[in-house]
Amino acid sequence: MTRILLLGASGQLGQQLCRTLSRVGTVIVINRATLDLCQPHQIPTVVLPIQPDLLINAAAYNAVDRAETEVSQADAVNAIAPAVLAEVAKTLTIPLIHFSTNYVFDGESTTPYDENDVPNPINAYGRSKLSGEIHIRQTWERHLILRTAWLYGIGHSSNFLNTICGWQPSNRNYESLPISSALLPLPLTLPMPSNP
Ligand SMILES: NC(=O)c1ccc[n+]([C@@H]2O[C@H](COP(=O)([O-])OP(=O)(O)OC[C@H]3O[C@@H](n4cnc5c(N)ncnc54)[C@H](OP(=O)(O)O)[C@@H]3O)[C@@H](O)[C@H]2O)c1
Repeated sequence: MTRILLLGASGQLGQQLCRTLSRVGTVIVINRATLDLCQPHQIPTVVLPIQPDLLINAAAYNAVDRAETEVSQADAVNAIAPAVLAEVAKTLTIPLIHFSTNYVFDGESTTPYDENDVPNPINAYGRSKLSGEIHIRQTWERHLILRTAWLYGIGHSSNFLNTICGWQPSNRNYESLPISSALLPLPLTLPMPSNP
């Protein structure tokens, strides 16, 4: 069976990937306690002995606002760690699947973005994620980079739907919910797990 090494399994996307991928292979999870991606130099020591067939990186430094003041942490997890993961995938000659973000763009386009649009991140988070993408592309050709925007799913307290639902009882002053119309993503729908 395909041995799939998944990073970021405790996250919103990672939890769903764990459930879904277990139908197609043996999912091996490495959590932060075993491998802190703020220490990217530790990646080869931890990952190489596992000898997976596929490497999936769902881990990220996702605190968009905090990234402005925690630039080195954001860069370590979002830029340097993906670069090292690409090196490791190359050494093992296995594919790397990595997730990125709409924040690589500046949001100024009046038409939907596609893969060929030129990125222009306007914040530290977006710059760190774009840097990760570039490192992967330059390092190992057998990669897939998926740029997502607004993940929805169940079972994760901080997802978009739960956040909105959580606002309602405690914000009785709102007659309508103030959601920015500047963000109009095409959402990535995570499938419902068969055993929620
Ligand atoms: N959520 C969205 O709406 C959204 C939108 C656009 C793009 N994305 C992209 O989609 C991907 C998944 O996002 P998500 O929402 O599922 O993220 P998330 O829920 O914030 O989960 C992040 C994962 O990364 C792990 N992680 C963070 N820092 C780490 C570190 N230093 N060492 C080891 N592990 C670390 C976390 O582990 P702990 O549990 O230990 O913290 C967690 O498992 C990311 O690449 C993100 O940039 C997400």
